[in-house]
Amino acid sequence: MTRPSDPLAQYRAGMLGMITGYMRSQAIYVAAKLGIADQLVAGPRPVADIAAKTGAHAPTLYRLLRALASEGIFRELNAGTFELTPMAELLRSDIPDSMRVWAIMFNEEQFHAWSGLLASVQTGEIAFDRIYGEGYFDWLGKHPDASRTFHQAMTTGSAQTGPALVREYDFTPFDVIADIGGGNGHLLRTILTANPHARGILFDLPHVVGDTATESELHDVADRCDVVGGSFFEDVPGGVDLYVLRAILHDWDDRRCTTILRNCRRAMNRGGRVLVLEGLVAPANEPDFRKWMDLQVLALLGGRERTEAEFRRLLAEAGFAMTRVIPLTADHSAIEATPA
Ligand SMILES: C[S@@+](CC[C@H](N)C(=O)[O-])C[C@H]1O[C@@H](n2cnc3c(N)ncnc32)[C@H](O)[C@@H]1O
Repeated sequence: MTRPSDPLAQYRAGMLGMITGYMRSQAIYVAAKLGIADQLVAGPRPVADIAAKTGAHAPTLYRLLRALASEGIFRELNAGTFELTPMAELLRSDIPDSMRVWAIMFNEEQFHAWSGLLASVQTGEIAFDRIYGEGYFDWLGKHPDASRTFHQAMTTGSAQTGPALVREYDFTPFDVIADIGGGNGHLLRTILTANPHARGILFDLPHVVGDTATESELHDVADRCDVVGGSFFEDVPGGVDLYVLRAILHDWDDRRCTTILRNCRRAMNRGGRVLVLEGLVAPANEPDFRKWMDLQVLALLGGRERTEAEFRRLLAEAGFAMTRVIPLTADHSAIEATPA
């Protein structure tokens, strides 16, 4: 690959790795989808056994695992016997903070949406809509398996934000707390469990709140929690002291975010607030996964990740004043705002 006196030699391997990044992501996806890591929890196994258990073609599965093992995901012990490594452990389905559903969610229809990135950058159109002929959340509503995977992945994310949120943010002034676009309700359950004085409202699309996953998620706090189906572009439940919006605004462009926020403003109780939980984009040139998630939400929904200044402007546009920004985890902050 290198030529003598090639001034770019030191960059070529890194560049090749990025150019072919989809090879790694799709290989991880296949291992996750087949549940390979779960087969190795009890110890190393020959590839023929793993293939028999997962419905795979043994010689081809061997090639997949050999490639993954070259990146530290699984390890080959002796000809054709593989074991788990710490990276492979993350693909188990039975551990806290498992990344298996993420590997699946990012690499099915979300992966296909990226094939429309060029057209999206040329036209500003939403890649997913162009390829699938409808919006991502409408499509999920018709594909229950993909919807379940998506919401399991969201629950994993909420499980990371929730403990930091209830530690860092004082919910005692709020009697009624609504989680807008709250998915299956994991975050709201965390908030209500830590705040026994409060009542909650889980609001999301009807097919999401109607799923049995929502019922079981909210089981412990069901006597203090209402579940409401609807669209936040039309209206949100009223009589609320605090609206929580986690990973909602990044899904949408400024115009649609303003509609959601204005609906909250109009419906909230006197003295009410909104609490926006999002990652903040780092300054120019700084490495930041958010900048990749920005392209992800662009391809899927025409959304965008924002800097703190962009959130301040967006909130002001919807009639709110930003009051505080509280860092929660490495990639999430809580932005509190009151009606201006
Ligand atoms: C990125 S997910 C975030 C879920 C949850 N807040 C979390 O952080 O785990 C976006 C959520 O918005 C919901 N959603 C999308 N369109 C909606 C609409 N028009 N009205 C209400 N909820 C909607 C989705 O169903 C999904 O649960």
